[in-house]
Amino acid sequence: MAKSKDRTWIKQHLNDRYVQMSQRDGYRSRASYKLLEILAKDVLIKPGMLVVDLGAAPGGWSQVAAGLVTSSGTVVALDMLPMDSISGVTVLTGDFTDATVFAQLLNLVGERKTDLVISDMAPNVTGVRDVDQPRSMYLVELAAELASNILLPGGSFITKVFQGQGYDEFVRDLRRVFNRVSVRKPDASRAKSREVYVVAKSFIGRERIEDE
Ligand SMILES: C[S@@+](CC[C@H](N)C(=O)[O-])C[C@H]1O[C@@H](n2cnc3c(N)ncnc32)[C@H](O)[C@@H]1O
Repeated sequence: MAKSKDRTWIKQHLNDRYVQMSQRDGYRSRASYKLLEILAKDVLIKPGMLVVDLGAAPGGWSQVAAGLVTSSGTVVALDMLPMDSISGVTVLTGDFTDATVFAQLLNLVGERKTDLVISDMAPNVTGVRDVDQPRSMYLVELAAELASNILLPGGSFITKVFQGQGYDEFVRDLRRVFNRVSVRKPDASRAKSREVYVVAKSFIGRERIEDE
C-alpha cells in the first residue's frame, strides 16, 4: 500500500511541468519558479543587493537570487541540511531555531544592511495540523524577527506561510512594520497546498519600531 502511494507520488512528480522545467533550466528545485513568479509581479532583486535566503536547500531560490544580484551583490543562505555550493552564495548550515545559529547569521550579515530576506522554510510535517501549524508559524515569526533586525529601511521580506491558526495575526503584524504587504499564490505552488507567500515591502526601519 505504502509502496504504491510512493510510486504514484514519484510518477506525479516526474510528470510535473515545473520539475521538467527545472531540469531543463538547471535549477535545483521546482521552487525556483515560485520565486521567479513572485519576482515577476513584485521586482525585488537588483544587482548589488544583499539577500538572505532562509530554508535554502537544495538551493533553487539561492540560484535565482545569485543570478539577479550578480557578482556585485551577495546571497547568504541558511539551511539545517547541507547544500552544494553556488557561486556568489555564502552557505551557513544549522537549525534556524537554535539561538547560536541565529546569532551566527546576524554576525555573518554584520553591519552590512540587508535589502531582502526570503524564507521558504517549512518544518517536516507530521500530518497532524495542530502540531504542524504552530511549528510552521514559529519558523515564520522567527524569520520576521530576523528580517526586522537586519533589513534596511525600505527593504523587503518574502516568506512562505501556511494558512491556518496564527496566519491572520501574522499578516496584520507585518502591516505595522512594512508599508506594502501582499499575499501571492504562485501557479508553481500546488493548488491543494495551504501555502501562500507573503510579500512585505518598504520596511519602516528598526529605529522607527524602537521609537514607537
Ligand atoms: C521547501 S524547502 C526549501 C526549498 C528552497 N527554497 C529551494 O528553492 O530549493 C524547505 C527547507 O526548509 C528547511 N528548514 C526547515 N526547518 C528549518 C530550520 N529550523 N532551520 C533551517 N532550515 C530549516 C528544510 O531543511 C528545507 O530544506
